[in-house]
Amino acid sequence: MLPSVLPTETDHVPVLADEVVAALAPRPGETVVDCTFGAGGHATLLARRLRGEGKVIAIDRDETVAPYFERFRRETGVKARLLHGEFSTVLSGLAGNGVRADIVLLDLGVSSMQLDRPERGFSYAVDAPLDMRMDPSADYSARELVNEAPERDLADIFRRYGEERNARRIARAIVKERASHPFERTGELVKTIKSAIPAPARFGEGHPAKRVFQALRIEVNDELGALERALPAALELLRPEGRLGVISFHSLEDRIVKQFLRDTERGCTCPPDFPVCVCGSAPTMRATPRRAIRPSAGEIARNPRAQSARLRVGTKVG
Ligand SMILES: C[S@@+](CC[C@H](N)C(=O)[O-])C[C@H]1O[C@@H](n2cnc3c(N)ncnc32)[C@H](O)[C@@H]1O
Repeated sequence: MLPSVLPTETDHVPVLADEVVAALAPRPGETVVDCTFGAGGHATLLARRLRGEGKVIAIDRDETVAPYFERFRRETGVKARLLHGEFSTVLSGLAGNGVRADIVLLDLGVSSMQLDRPERGFSYAVDAPLDMRMDPSADYSARELVNEAPERDLADIFRRYGEERNARRIARAIVKERASHPFERTGELVKTIKSAIPAPARFGEGHPAKRVFQALRIEVNDELGALERALPAALELLRPEGRLGVISFHSLEDRIVKQFLRDTERGCTCPPDFPVCVCGSAPTMRATPRRAIRPSAGEIARNPRAQSARLRVGTKVG
């Protein structure tokens, strides 16, 4: 396991902080489940609104958040526990054990602490071991993926999760290179990506390895699968009138959340050409508000990471 880090002043800055608190509106006595605890920024803001009554269940698949959780508990004094694991599994376990919550929050992706620690291998900007596991105890890292996946699968991952136009060229170059020299470090991968793409594509559209690194991270951590499994589990966990908030950072995630809210709002699963409903399924959620909440220009100026953030909120039908 990686050594824990001590909370510092350069901690992760919670995005859409005021908007999250306003939309989820915690009240004294309620139970808040923060599925992506990180540095505890959102959890702290939500916990303060509980005014000493109620509790917080914090989840993170990264055990190195433990010192942040201790700080959170000390500073808020709220009744709280930290559960280590993948949020969809933990949510299902909680719901199956009869736990009920008033608020469930998911703030997707990686934290600044994960990105900024070179040894985690998330960054294309520094040479480090090829890793990218959010849970350092997980079996599968970017090293296995890059060195073992078939060329076609790599190209598919780069295209789907990174929207990388040169996906096939990059996959081909990786497979050629690894035949004589397996990839161990991010720097080696960045070099191969740069050599595989045509010169004009190396300029503009940000760092040439940015999209491939995003795609590998999504695949290594099964980020979209986890989200798809977590949403119905969160719905089951919520009490009537309970609120679900999801902050996503790219269109693939936002699409899943939007579709989930649309489906649960409609309820009925009959084909559109059926004259009357025969499934009898009633709506289980309503989107509150209807549209995604975006960060203000001021927030983006202060924290460029907020640029692509979208918050969607649903309320469970009572
Ligand atoms: C963007 S950060 C959250 C930051 C937090 N909201 C704050 O204000 O400090 C995302 C965190 O969620 C965790 N995480 C991401 N996906 C997860 C999953 N499927 N299960 C559990 N934890 C996850 C990451 O390890 C990371 O610590």
